Amino acid sequence: MRFGAAKLKTIVEPRTYFIRTFGCQMNEHDSERIAGLLESEGYERAHSPDAADLIVLNTCAIRENADNKLYGNLGHLKPLKDARPELRIAVGGCQVQKDKHLVIEKAPWVDVAFGTFAVGELPRLLADRESGGVPAFEFTEHTDVFPSALPARREQRFHGWVSVSVGCDNACTFCIVPSVRGPQVSRRLGDVLDECKRLVEDGVVEISLLGQNVNTYGRDLDGRPMFAELLASMDGIDGLRRVRFTSPHPHDFTPDVIEAMAGSKTVCEHIHFPLQSGSDSVLKRMRRSYRSARYLEWLHDIRAAVPGVAVSTDIIVGFPGETDAEFEDTLRVVQSAQFDSAYTFEYSIRPGTEAAVMPDQVPAGVVQERFRRLVALQENISLEKNTALMNARVETLVEGPSRKDPARATARTRTNKIVHVPGDGLQPGSFADVIVKAAHPHYLEGEVA
Ligand code: 5AD
Ligand code: SF4
Repeated sequence: MRFGAAKLKTIVEPRTYFIRTFGCQMNEHDSERIAGLLESEGYERAHSPDAADLIVLNTCAIRENADNKLYGNLGHLKPLKDARPELRIAVGGCQVQKDKHLVIEKAPWVDVAFGTFAVGELPRLLADRESGGVPAFEFTEHTDVFPSALPARREQRFHGWVSVSVGCDNACTFCIVPSVRGPQVSRRLGDVLDECKRLVEDGVVEISLLGQNVNTYGRDLDGRPMFAELLASMDGIDGLRRVRFTSPHPHDFTPDVIEAMAGSKTVCEHIHFPLQSGSDSVLKRMRRSYRSARYLEWLHDIRAAVPGVAVSTDIIVGFPGETDAEFEDTLRVVQSAQFDSAYTFEYSIRPGTEAAVMPDQVPAGVVQERFRRLVALQENISLEKNTALMNARVETLVEGPSRKDPARATARTRTNKIVHVPGDGLQPGSFADVIVKAAHPHYLEGEVA
């Protein structure tokens, strides 16, 4: 009897999936939709690739090492596929959108390839693969269905990603995104708000609004940006405690957006404000519309309007032609901007972008040296900023047990700082007031007040 039952189980056992996500929050958002779609098809989540019937790689194309990661990962999957030919491997995301058929040419053991506009097509493509016996793919250039409209399996019950727009109308010369994700397309305000309300009814207390250029939200709908209106409307959603948004372009951080942020209860005191370079000549070559003085003025205005606001940024080191003097300008602006944190990147050639063919690409050794200096400077600033919070009482949202030490909980302040707290009984999704007891460049330690 027992044997029979076990056998039956292997026959009707649900198929399992495993997703590996690379890149930005937009990809994390898309991966939650991929998981939701697969679960609505009866798949269950596996906890490792070895235990999965279907492995999905959701890829990024922003820098060269993102590219290499994909082909490295596919290389690792080959022996798994050889050993288990019934294993299905699906590859989606920005790099697939960029490379298209090349992915299957380079890795013929891939079963399904789907571009960024084809997330919703995954179940059909998997079925096509079974019936056709050959790799199935979809690389369409536009979509009628926003991934946000697809079912989601959220990683955290208390947090929801909501995409408000996809694509980007800017033309920064280093960036592959506009060619991969296309021009900006915004969702209707009512659809965005309805989705937010549904999430809150489902237990979400924190929502992150996503767009490649989030603060030009709405410009493609009726000709005017509606981001301030969107932010202001979020306060009207009962039960919602925190709103975040990413990624804005400094140029579009208009006074109405600052005002909406300042006047909102739910919008958190944190902005991501990508500088890219502190040198005006580099900014010009990057085709960023502002100059360093203007950037610092905006920052000043935002800090004046939103007390306690934390600021993070993105900086690229070693853009083509960057001289020592231009790099020193970046150090000076970083010193004066006093960011809470910075994502620093070594410039990476993206074939097809304008910068890729610019003269005077900076030698790798020089880039690495500059990179180290920039990181060291920013770490000092981050530590000073965090040290200023010693003994402060901060509201945190508990995210779950700390990955390094399960006896502690990881929580997040409204200003987007991570705080590790001795964790007994702290439920993910609950709020705890915490007294800051130790400061580090990248996180705080605290005790529940
Ligand atoms: N090289 C290095 N960094 C880049 N970014 C975008 N394109 C490149 C590139 N070619 C960085 C920018 C952007 C962040 C998401 O990635 O700083 O804001
Ligand atoms: Fe995100 Fe850009 Fe990477 Fe695509 S290429 S995953 S949009 S960072």
